[in-house]
Amino acid sequence: MKLNVNGSERDLEVDDHESLLTALRERLGLPGSKNACEQGECGSCSVLLDGALVCSCLVLAGAVAGRDVRTVEALSDDEGLHPVQRAFAETGAVQCGFCTPGLVVATYALLTENPEPSDREVREALSGNICRCTGYGRILEAVQRASAAMYRR
Ligand code: FES
Ligand code: FES
Repeated sequence: MKLNVNGSERDLEVDDHESLLTALRERLGLPGSKNACEQGECGSCSVLLDGALVCSCLVLAGAVAGRDVRTVEALSDDEGLHPVQRAFAETGAVQCGFCTPGLVVATYALLTENPEPSDREVREALSGNICRCTGYGRILEAVQRASAAMYRR
């Protein structure tokens, strides 16, 4: 099947029950999306599917033929890190880093829809992303910092 991943058309053969997460990591060489629970509970595997935030561990790879997938790898470019990624690094919102790609993708999705979210809106938007290390204070701070950087407040 063909699909668009991070702006490039890719050709892929997948097994019947293979998840999009497995296809991204093991067939397409994109290990940014993490596998922590494989049950839709932690958000570490978050990607954008046709612009909507999804847990890639819950999406069948075979179901994304012809669709557009964006992973955390799409956020940085030759110019460097995306403001969301920079904000997480600069606020110290990263410890082991396992949850970080999912949080970064979820934050990017939130700020694309809602440039200046309230703390409550941030908490709601990130409620599907679990961090086992940091507590959430610095993560909330990182989201507000990213909002300011993206929209130059
Ligand atoms: S690995 Fe997909 S939600 Fe946890
Ligand atoms: S930084 Fe370790 S799980 Fe979030």
